[in-house]
Amino acid sequence: MNKLLHIIASPRGEESRTLKVSKAFLDAFKKKNPSCVIDELNAAAEALPSLTLKMVSGKYVLLGGKNLTGELAEAWKPIEKEIERFLSADAYLISAPMWNFSIPYTLKQYIDLIIQPKYLFRYTPKGVEGMAKGRKMLVVTSRGGDYSHGASKSYDFQEPYLKTIFGFVGISDITFINAEPMDALGPDVGSQKVAEACEKAKKTAASW
Ligand SMILES: Cc1cc2nc3c(=O)[nH]c(=O)nc-3n(C[C@H](O)[C@H](O)[C@H](O)COP(=O)(O)O)c2cc1C
Repeated sequence: MNKLLHIIASPRGEESRTLKVSKAFLDAFKKKNPSCVIDELNAAAEALPSLTLKMVSGKYVLLGGKNLTGELAEAWKPIEKEIERFLSADAYLISAPMWNFSIPYTLKQYIDLIIQPKYLFRYTPKGVEGMAKGRKMLVVTSRGGDYSHGASKSYDFQEPYLKTIFGFVGISDITFINAEPMDALGPDVGSQKVAEACEKAKKTAASW
């Protein structure tokens, strides 16, 4: 592994339970892969570009199988920069709390920026082909409630969405570590679940 891109979607820094678990993974990962570069993309703190009309128009040009020229090509430079950063990694760590049963909007903004035709997927006579194949991903989440079993499982739009969108671009090797429940059963249970998730994270790092 040469480069791991850590995409952070919790704005809570030191207070973040998600980031505690990710730190357990990263500490063990760094020991095992000392030469791997770790690039940290804090989607909650970095001002990611917003999709302008020209950027969206450019997407439809690409979907039509044409290349971008002139002002649309110019407008797409910030998107290309983010895609280049994403594709320069061969492994990913996503740190995302559950927000309203799904992902924080900053992570969705990042996904809307980078998942683009010609760059991350293309249409072929055999169907859609993902262009980020062969990469590994760990997704660490934490949730106020517990969505691991029973009726509440159907409220989890976070894990299925991330599996689907990154699977769409060819990343099929995705591991999830969900720390839950963080809030619903009080702070003691929350702390215990964070500790359990940290153990899982260390074990995962040992196999990377
Ligand atoms: C805006 C917002 C929305 C949330 N929505 C949910 C939710 O739908 N389900 C849930 O179980 N917890 C929800 N939570 C609680 C967080 O998922 C939980 O506290 C998590 O551990 C926060 O992660 P962090 O400590 O890494 O920031 C929400 C928290 C916030 C701030």
